[in-house]
This record gives sequence, structure tokens and C-alpha cells, in this order.
Amino acid sequence: MEDKKANIIAAISILALLVVIIAARVSLKLSKPFYLIAGVDISLILAVFCFLIIRIRYNRERKLLVSRFLSEGRELRTEYSFLRKVAGVPTKFRLEDLEEATDGFRSLIGKGGSGSVFKGVLKDGSQVAVKRIEGEEKGEREFRSEVAAIASVQHKNLVRLYGYSSAVSANRPRFLVYEYIVNSSLDIWIFPEKGNRRRTGGGCLSWNQRYQVAIDVAKALAYLHHDCRSKILHLDVKPENILLDGSYRAVVTDFGLSKLIARDESKVLTDIRGTRGYLAPEWLLEHGISEKSDVYSYGIVLLEMIGGRRSISRVEVKETGKKKLEYFPRIVNQKMRERKVMEIVDQRLVETNEVDEEEVMKLVCVAMWCIQEKSRNRPDMVMVIEMLEGRVMVNEPPDSDVVVVDLLAADDDDDGSSGGVRRVINVPRLQIQRERNFRLPSVCSSIISPISPR
Ligand SMILES: Nc1ncnc2c1ncn2[C@@H]1O[C@H](COP(=O)(O)OP(=O)(O)O)[C@@H](O)[C@H]1O
Ligand SMILES: [Mg+2]
Repeated sequence: MEDKKANIIAAISILALLVVIIAARVSLKLSKPFYLIAGVDISLILAVFCFLIIRIRYNRERKLLVSRFLSEGRELRTEYSFLRKVAGVPTKFRLEDLEEATDGFRSLIGKGGSGSVFKGVLKDGSQVAVKRIEGEEKGEREFRSEVAAIASVQHKNLVRLYGYSSAVSANRPRFLVYEYIVNSSLDIWIFPEKGNRRRTGGGCLSWNQRYQVAIDVAKALAYLHHDCRSKILHLDVKPENILLDGSYRAVVTDFGLSKLIARDESKVLTDIRGTRGYLAPEWLLEHGISEKSDVYSYGIVLLEMIGGRRSISRVEVKETGKKKLEYFPRIVNQKMRERKVMEIVDQRLVETNEVDEEEVMKLVCVAMWCIQEKSRNRPDMVMVIEMLEGRVMVNEPPDSDVVVVDLLAADDDDDGSSGGVRRVINVPRLQIQRERNFRLPSVCSSIISPISPR
């Protein structure tokens, strides 16, 4: 625009100067004043021409420079985004990109406590899982915890966060973009399909694959607890949050409830969070939680993998026809002491004849150590790896007096097998005496149960 204006002004000036020369020639003939005026005019015309030529050259060079900068900038940006990807730094996505990648959030691949997960493909062809987190305050908190925890970690058994998209306004959903893990979550590979609840995918994981998953998850948790700059407590370890890749190796996901604490902090006070069935007793019994609370949930997951059943389930009593809650760890404890561990192994696995009884005993003992009532009696995850990989002998765990079955298992209308219902709850911390068969106030009476055989 500026260039055009300058050219027009120059052309008009040259025209005006030529008109002046013609007018002077007509009125002054070839007199001395005419030559004077013509001389000045011609010099002015030459000056305008020079100005135009200089300007054109200057503009050409400027355009060249700009285009060079632009292409260098583009290259830099490409390089930068490549480096970000290699370094695992999450990228900020636009909502439109995510809509395009998921084809308008069409293919739902999972649902959990914080939102829905959709399959998608990014422009560079990589397959992703896009998690849509709803809810204003809770959503924001889970979104922040998840980004804070997972953005800084790199481990082959932890899911990779490619990027995120924060909410445009307070009540709009937030998004997290993860690498897509093909075989979905562990629950559909260890729990048999229920007649009335059909699901897509899944099957029966072999004994060796289950044992490998146990090691993979232990490694992921050991890394979070011991090898990161801040200690990361996952606080929602359960089969639904353990994904299986193409080779059925475990990838731990869902850091929505996680907590970052300083390396030298041994216990932390926080609101009760997690999923019923996997909550460690210290949420109620001790002053604060620690990485040992993850060890407890891990122990429960081990038992669930061994038995192919939830730790708490509702079973029918033959004589009365009534249903009652059955606590699997108590049964395992009894069978372990009677040296009859094969009786608690997933029946589908026993039929294959591929289960090694010694390995079952080892896994059962590790699990029972992990769910010890007192957190200080549980091993840390590094020790768990040592035990599972056979570098440390596993002794028989001591008998616990009582175990808090679960904070919320008292729900009568639940069959205890939901597993996916996660809650962050605010209840007063209860100071309770630990005694055998201690009777609790009605709200908690069914959450404590003796683990030792009666
Ligand atoms: N990266 C992923 N690849 C494949 N499936 C996934 C992935 N992330 C989550 N899912 C599926 O979605 C479910 C819910 O995801 P999760 O992150 O646990 O959400 P929530 O925080 O709502 O519990 C998982 O149990 C799993 O089946
Ligand atoms: Mg989850």
C-alpha cells in the first residue's frame, strides 16, 4: 500500500513538472527564464527517478530478507517441535486439531472417573488417545495433577503425554493427548466377561504375561517413588489404570489423583482419594499417607491378577440364598497358610497347566507383604522388584490382625466389583483402636474385617 502511494505521488510529480516545462515553453519561448525553469524541473524529475530506483531496490532486498527469515523461522519451528517430541515435552493443541484428530470425538475407547477417552490420529499419522476431562473444579484439579506428574517423567512403563489443551473457559472440558496403547486396560484381560456386561476386546492373559505385568508395574511405581526429582504418588493403582501394549507389556496411566511430594517428605496429609477396593488402611488409621499406599493398591492388583477376580465381590450364600460380600485377600491368606495356593488361582489358567506353583506362592507372598496393614511393614517397590525377579528370597508374610477392607465397601447396593468408580472424598480422619474384632461405628463397621482365619 505504501509502495503504491509513493509510486503514484512520484508519477504525479513528474507529470506536474513536465506540464510546468511545457507551460514555460509556450509562455516564455526560448528565453533565459524558460531555460532556468526547465533546468530546475529536469533536475527534480531526475531526483524523483533516482528516488524511485533506490526505493525499488531497497524493497526487493527487504522482501528477500523477510522471505529468508520466514523460511528459517519455519525450519526452526519444525526443528523445535521435533526436539520437543524427542524430549517428550508436551505440546499445546488447539481444540480444532483435536476435533479433527478424533473425527469429532467419535470413537470412544474408555471411560473413567474423570472423563471419556477417544481414539484419534494426529496430522503426522501417530495414533493417540484423547482424554476429555469434564467438571469445573474437580476437572481442573485432575487436569493439573495429571499434567504436573506425567509431563516430567519418562519411563517405558509409563504412558507418554503428547500434549494437552486447556479449557477456553472455566466450565469447558480440558483435554490430554496420550500415545495410544493398543490392548486397552488390564481389567479386560484378567476378569472374565460377565454375562450381562458385554465388552469389546479383552481375553485371558496367560500366567507368564501376568507375571511380566506384575514386574512392569512394579518398575513403573519404583521409578515414580524413587527416581524422579519429586516423589510421585500415583494414588489410583488398579487394573483399569494399567494399559497393555502390543506385546502385553504394562503401561501405567491416569495420574489424575496423583500427588507430588518432596523427596525428603515421608508422609503427606491429603483428602481421601482413590478407588474403593484399593485404598490402603492408613487413609483411615494413620496420620498421613506415603508411597506405601501405592504399594498396598499394587498388592491388591497382584491378588486380582492371580485370582482373576476382584478383591471384594458379592457372592450368594447357598443355604440362605442371600448375597454377602466376600473379601478375596482373606481367602488367599488362609490358602497360603494351608499351602493350597493353586486353589485360588484363576480357574482358566489352572486348566492350561502352565502355572508354576512356586511362582504362584512367590507372587501370593509378595502380594500379602504389600497389603500388610501397617505401612511400615510393607516392602518398597524396589524390594518388590528384587523379590519378583528372584534376587531376594520371599519370606512368608506375618498374619495381620485386621485389615481395612475398604473405605466405601459398605455400599449395600454395590456388588463390590465395579472397580472403576473412583472417588475423592472428604471424611474426618478416624482415630480407631486396632484390636482384633474391634467394633467400629456403624458407618465403618463393614470396612474392617479380620484377615486371619478364624
Ligand atoms: N493411552 C490410552 N490408550 C488406550 N486406551 C486408553 C488410554 N488411556 C486410557 N484408555 C482407556 O480409557 C480408560 C479410562 O482412562 P483413564 O485415563 O483411566 O481415565 P479416568 O481418569 O477417567 O479414569 C482406561 O481404563 C482405558 O481403557
Ligand atoms: Mg482411570
